Amino acid sequence: MKSIAIIGGTGLNQFPGATHSESIELDTPYGKPSGKIEKLTLASGAVHFLARHGQPHNLPPHQINYQANIHALHQLGITDIIAVNAVGGITDKAPTGCLSIPDQLIDYTWGRAHTYSQQENNDPLLSVQHIDFSQPFNEEIRNALISQGKALQLPIADSGTYAVTQGPRLETAAEIAKYERDGCDLVGMTAMPETALAKELGIRYASVCLVVNPAAGKADQEITMEDIRAVVDKGMQQVTTLITHTVSA
Ligand code: HPA
Repeated sequence: MKSIAIIGGTGLNQFPGATHSESIELDTPYGKPSGKIEKLTLASGAVHFLARHGQPHNLPPHQINYQANIHALHQLGITDIIAVNAVGGITDKAPTGCLSIPDQLIDYTWGRAHTYSQQENNDPLLSVQHIDFSQPFNEEIRNALISQGKALQLPIADSGTYAVTQGPRLETAAEIAKYERDGCDLVGMTAMPETALAKELGIRYASVCLVVNPAAGKADQEITMEDIRAVVDKGMQQVTTLITHTVSA
């Protein structure tokens, strides 16, 4: 039996239209997750929901306890994660307002607690582990999101490479030009180490990336939080519609 969790990002601290049944407070060997995990029903689908940046939103991307978040979901028996990430768009594959379902990523983050593979870990299976990360995102969940998105006529991009940056500042135009040369279509701050930690614990993981701005150097005007907020407000409604249909199918 599948057990689905949604990790909400910027603009999705709560899941609108859901019926709430329980708030679960958990501790983990890695510390506390970003907040309580909410048990919700969306249309006919039961899910757990965790706000990655806390509720209210006050954890910046580099201070999120990704290890605790994924461990807590694992404790609840979660098998599948649909993550939501707000990102900047680098290439034509990622226009502002589109919902990209990435198929690849490049990790440019540093200094984050990025693995459960630690000598002091008491679980011998995890103490030295080299996961196959060739395909970071789960194809079955990706395909479910893409086909629902197309059926709903949402602005879906069915592939893309996500550059994961350290933040919290946005990038320089030269950094974005480099990421583009590296083959990246999207840029955001939160897909890593979350994606890899889920894979270490055997949880299937896919992401819905809402493109909220053209990345640095890709538009003439400055990137402002006001412009981003306007795209987030409209786009997250489409994201929640997509997820509700996908988990209820
Ligand atoms: N860069 C990095 N992260 C982001 C951006 C961006 O332009 N927009 C939203 N998250």
